[in-house]
Amino acid sequence: MLIIHGGTPLEGEVTVRGAKNLVSKAMVAALLGTSPSVLRSVPAIRDVEVVTGLLRVHGVDVELDGDTLYMDPTSVESAGVEEINVHAGTSRIPILLCGPLLHRLGRAFIPDLGGCNIGGRPIDFHLDALRQFGAVVEKDASGTHLSAPNGLHGIRYELEYPSVGATEQVLLTAVMAKGTTELRNAAIEPEIVDLICILQKMGAIIKVHTNRVIEIVGVDELKGYRHRALPDRIEAASWASAALATEGSVFVRGAQQADMMTFLNVFRSIGGAYEVDDDPVEGGIRFWHPGTPLKPVALETDVHPGLMTDWQQPIVVALTQADGLSIMHETVYENRFGYTSELRRMGANIELYSDCLGGTPCRWGRRNYLHSAVIAGPSKLHAADLQIPDLRAGFSHLIAAMAAEGTSRVYGVDRYISRGYENFEEKLLGLGAKIERPVTK
Ligand code: EPU
Repeated sequence: MLIIHGGTPLEGEVTVRGAKNLVSKAMVAALLGTSPSVLRSVPAIRDVEVVTGLLRVHGVDVELDGDTLYMDPTSVESAGVEEINVHAGTSRIPILLCGPLLHRLGRAFIPDLGGCNIGGRPIDFHLDALRQFGAVVEKDASGTHLSAPNGLHGIRYELEYPSVGATEQVLLTAVMAKGTTELRNAAIEPEIVDLICILQKMGAIIKVHTNRVIEIVGVDELKGYRHRALPDRIEAASWASAALATEGSVFVRGAQQADMMTFLNVFRSIGGAYEVDDDPVEGGIRFWHPGTPLKPVALETDVHPGLMTDWQQPIVVALTQADGLSIMHETVYENRFGYTSELRRMGANIELYSDCLGGTPCRWGRRNYLHSAVIAGPSKLHAADLQIPDLRAGFSHLIAAMAAEGTSRVYGVDRYISRGYENFEEKLLGLGAKIERPVTK
């Protein structure tokens, strides 16, 4: 639990390191190499610890030195169900081990997945693609067992929806499958492009065509890589939104304009100000509240290059301070507005609808999910006791508590926020936030 005395603008500087949603996948890719890999700019977050554990039980030697991770997969070996299951329910990354383990060991065991509870989060695309590559998938009470009795062979596959994870699954499997794979309707998030860069450094042949088509020519062997992870654009946007909601000013060292163009447009439309410093080493983006009233906007989340679903929650908190009616239509996940009930208790005026408001009809409207929010601002937020439901929602609760008047108690910070935000308490203190841990006797 974190105690937050709100009402203080966040002022100062934070540094973002490698993106959680690339680093964990880059660690999985290291399994494919016949020689060690070196990954730089690795954040100290729990998802990295989970994948480290998973690699280690499979015989990969993993060492962290500062923010550089050394991974030696030369002695990869099968792991027992019990030692893998220690990691059950902790993350969604284990599903991505399927292809690399099948290539290296001929079989794989995947525990039940974890990750944020923001919708059904099925893995049907993953398993369907793996079966087409030639994997045999068997589920039992302990988890999912996979084998590839006849090896893995390239496929022509079209995703029903440009899923990030399923695209990564196909990439990590196709790079060493026999023959060529053509993936249509692929996700093209910057983290995926960075993963492709890593695989290319390892010796893979991957062509990214127009219209979400990716072609992968399978190779017999991949070597280790040296790579610096791209910065975390979700964390960067979280700090930007915190600066706006608390009427502060935060320089986010490491934030990159090219990966955040859509966010920057939204930030400007709401009335936020920013300045890009594109120095390759010291650069970043400064975000601030210019002192004039924030403007309402109609937004919808989408796959890249659209507005990221993980930017939605911090933006909604900032929109509670905009002068008028804003709309947020969530099209990626069916259940990503649960956190707004806590914001309502703090005085925010937010209503949820099952219609596709303010944008193009999406698959959730037809199925009656509460996936559109109307935010009427500006609202004076007041302190409350808050229970964090998931990672991104949790950070937005912190932002709301910092913007609110009075003292809030936020529960669940260790369980959720440290999964994806490195040293967030130190960073908050450095920005002048008045936060404290309860004194334990
Ligand atoms: N989907 C299916 N079947 C599948 C896979 C996905 O129906 O087999 C659906 C999902 O249910 C969802 C949509 O496709 O409605 C998109 O899901 P996607 O597969 O793209 O998400 P993911 O790979 O599970 C990653 C990030 C999420 C981020 C999404 C979207 C990681 C570890 N997670 O999830 O990040 O929201 O892409 O960009 O990379 C977070 O960091 O807090 C987070 C949730």
